[in-house]
Amino acid sequence: MILAAVPGFQGNQTALNPVGPGAAHIEFEFSLIFWITTAVYCIVLLVLVIAVARKRHSFEAMPEPLTTTPESDRIAKRSVGAAMIATVILLFIMLVGSFETSRALGSMNPENALTIDVYGHQWWWEVQYPNDEAYKTVVTANEIHLPVGVPIRIHGTSRDVIHSFWAPNVQGKRDLMPGYETEIMMQIDQPGAWRGQCAEYCGEQHAHMSFYMVAETKDQFAKWLNDQAQSSVSPSTPETARGQQVFLTHACVLCHTIRGTPAGSRVGPDLTHVASRTTIAAGELPNTVGNLGGWILNAQGIKPGCRMPPNQLSGSELQDLLAYLETLK
Ligand code: CUA
Repeated sequence: MILAAVPGFQGNQTALNPVGPGAAHIEFEFSLIFWITTAVYCIVLLVLVIAVARKRHSFEAMPEPLTTTPESDRIAKRSVGAAMIATVILLFIMLVGSFETSRALGSMNPENALTIDVYGHQWWWEVQYPNDEAYKTVVTANEIHLPVGVPIRIHGTSRDVIHSFWAPNVQGKRDLMPGYETEIMMQIDQPGAWRGQCAEYCGEQHAHMSFYMVAETKDQFAKWLNDQAQSSVSPSTPETARGQQVFLTHACVLCHTIRGTPAGSRVGPDLTHVASRTTIAAGELPNTVGNLGGWILNAQGIKPGCRMPPNQLSGSELQDLLAYLETLK
């Protein structure tokens, strides 16, 4: 396919490179409409060019351009009639394709699907893996791990304004609205990290509200889920112990949870396993010590308007805090 050769139509954030049945249905529908309309456009242009070229010749040969004969009249009527019939047929093909795509997307609803709760926030994604035993419920942010080849039910809503959940390689977009719950069925058939982002303007940092869908083998996923369900590790060195105290005695504790410590607020992302994530700030920065330090000191310089306030910490406090956070695998 020609488009596959063009950069931007490949990679881990494009609807034209589907990795699951949802996006594949949408890609098929897109290709159908794209190629039909492209062919129609080319044919119309071709006919126009031929008509202009012919007119020019007849101008040179004959000063009265509007002469018609019964023969030319009949040809014109037949041409218009054929074009109308072709238009109706092509529109009908696109209508049937669109109907079939909607039906296929709507019928993705297996009973054995894994349910993942996703909550949109300004400007990050809260992700929960509910469990009948509440203490095993996993809470994380911005990275949605899931097993390859297993139907997934994303159960979504918003904690503030309207957001839209969209991972183009995986499935179509769906608005997440406050006070309204929605379900999106999806499945990923190949391992990898597929980028998604908010697709509904939700304020100043809307463009910096991305996430990753991380598709893993069933074993890798089971291990990940089990690790995430554990409480945070206790500090094992004086430095990390001081770091934990910095966390618990500064503003951090007012907004974040670290399970296994007194910190239990749900305003910002759960940090129990923050060091296991590959990015921070909703996909904005790689999760490195330097980025995390910059984010803690002055998140407003990175994502102006976000709810993370600047923090006044001494150099040693920051180092201890980072040392502690780095242990939260
Ligand atoms: Cu959330 Cu745009």
